[in-house]
Amino acid sequence: MKIGILISGRGSNMVALVDAVASGEIPGSEVAVVISDKADAAGLAKAAERGVETLVIERNGRKREEHDSEIVAALKDRGVELVCLAGYMRLLSPLFVQAFPDRIINIHPSLLPAYPGLNVHERVIAAGENRSGCTVHYVNEDLDAGPVILQREVPVLAGDTPETLAARILEQEHSAYVDAVREVVAAKATAKG
Ligand code: GRF
Repeated sequence: MKIGILISGRGSNMVALVDAVASGEIPGSEVAVVISDKADAAGLAKAAERGVETLVIERNGRKREEHDSEIVAALKDRGVELVCLAGYMRLLSPLFVQAFPDRIINIHPSLLPAYPGLNVHERVIAAGENRSGCTVHYVNEDLDAGPVILQREVPVLAGDTPETLAARILEQEHSAYVDAVREVVAAKATAKG
């Protein structure tokens, strides 16, 4: 199964997926392309170093549908069957979601449905939560709202800052995303027969 990964920044989850595919931890898969909507995304160099094709498709003031159509075309051209969002900071248009039904997944650094959206760790700490975590989920047309594939929990500790909590969760994100993609690839392969 060909995987396309979308990033906007650092790309540590993308690296976790690329490295897991390369080491055989996600059997039957291949990362076909990494696409960023930002030319200065640090993750681009990390993907290129690993021998993965990279593309920059910037928004450039265009409408969301137009931008998304270009990304969808680039993914389809390369035979991508599973799209993984990894720190991709844009909401997908219905056109994009419908182009890959049940084949787009995302990772979010909270225990969804709690704390969708941005500034998650600040909000979790301000609310006095004693646990948080990450969620890998299917993407639909609403923000951080599709069916959950898996979650990992971490404690929120006294004295945590958004940065310390983010780092504790990120460690879990990398293995959670690999496990979720392995599960999804295996399930789709079985469904294909
Ligand atoms: C991660 O915390 C992810 O859950 C969120 O954005 C961050 C991306 O980090 N969606 P990275 O670019 O994968 O390092």
